[in-house]
Amino acid sequence: VTSDATPDRIGILGGTGKLGAGLARRWAAAGIPVVIGSRDPDRAEARAQELRRDIPVDAAELSGASNLAAASAPLVVAAVPAEGAEELVADLAGTLAERILVSAISPLAFDASGPRPAPLADGRSAAELVAELAPAARVVAGLHTVSSVGLSDLAHPLDEDVLLATDDDAAGDVVAAAIGHLSGARPVRAGPLRLAGTLEALTAVLISINKRHRVHAGFRVTGLER
Ligand SMILES: NC(=O)c1ccc[n+]([C@@H]2O[C@H](COP(=O)([O-])OP(=O)(O)OC[C@H]3O[C@@H](n4cnc5c(N)ncnc54)[C@H](OP(=O)(O)O)[C@@H]3O)[C@@H](O)[C@H]2O)c1
Repeated sequence: VTSDATPDRIGILGGTGKLGAGLARRWAAAGIPVVIGSRDPDRAEARAQELRRDIPVDAAELSGASNLAAASAPLVVAAVPAEGAEELVADLAGTLAERILVSAISPLAFDASGPRPAPLADGRSAAELVAELAPAARVVAGLHTVSSVGLSDLAHPLDEDVLLATDDDAAGDVVAAAIGHLSGARPVRAGPLRLAGTLEALTAVLISINKRHRVHAGFRVTGLER
C-alpha cells in the first residue's frame, strides 16, 4: 500500500470471469499491477494474455495465476459467483488473514420476471458470510453495481458511484483509493458491513434496469458535495 492508500498490487479471485476481467483491465491500465486468479492457473494465464492485448503498452503488469496466488496480494477482490464463494473463501482463509478483501458477490436468483436478490437462508449477505469464513480478513463489500461491460470499455470512463460497506475504516480507505483509479468511478462510503445485503440486492435492480432500458446503467448518489 502506497502513501496515498493505493494498493501496490491487486489480486482478483475468479479474475477470469466477466467482472474480474473488466476490473483487471482498468486497474492495469491505471498503473496498478493485477494478478487474476482462477481454479485453473493455466486458464488464468491464457486469459491474462488475452487481456494484455487490449490495454495500453504502458499499463502495469497483468498476470494470471491460482486463486491462492491472487489471495496473497494486499488487496483482494472476490469476483466469483455466490455458489462458489463459500468453499473458495474457506479454503483461502489462512492466506486472506490481514488482507483487505472486497466482496463483489451478489447472490441472485432469476425467473420469468427477471432477477431478484437471493440472500442466504439465514438472511445474511454474501459479504457477511465471507467475513465469517475468513475471520482475520478485512472485509469490504463493494463493486456490486459496476457493469463488467462498462469496465471493459477502456475508451470510455465510467460515470458512476461505487458504494462501499465495511466495519474497517482503514480498509475502506484503501478500497476507496483503488476505486478512484477506475477512471470515472467515485467511491462512496455507505456504512457498516451490515448494509452489504442491501448493496448486493442493488445488482438485481441494476440488471432489471439494464434489461428494461437496454442500457448498461450505473448508480449515482446526489448531494454529497457541500
Ligand atoms: N458481471 C458483472 O457485471 C457483475 C457486477 C457486479 C457484481 N457481480 C458479482 O461478481 C461475481 C462475479 O460475477 P461474474 O459475472 O464475473 O461471474 P462469472 O464470470 O460467471 O464467474 C467469475 C469466475 O468465477 C469462477 N468460478 C465460477 N464458479 C466457481 C465456483 N463454483 N467456485 C470457484 N470459482 C468459480 C470462474 O473462474 P475459474 O473457472 O477460472 O476458476 C469464473 O471465471 C458474482 O458474485 C456477481 O454477482 C458481477
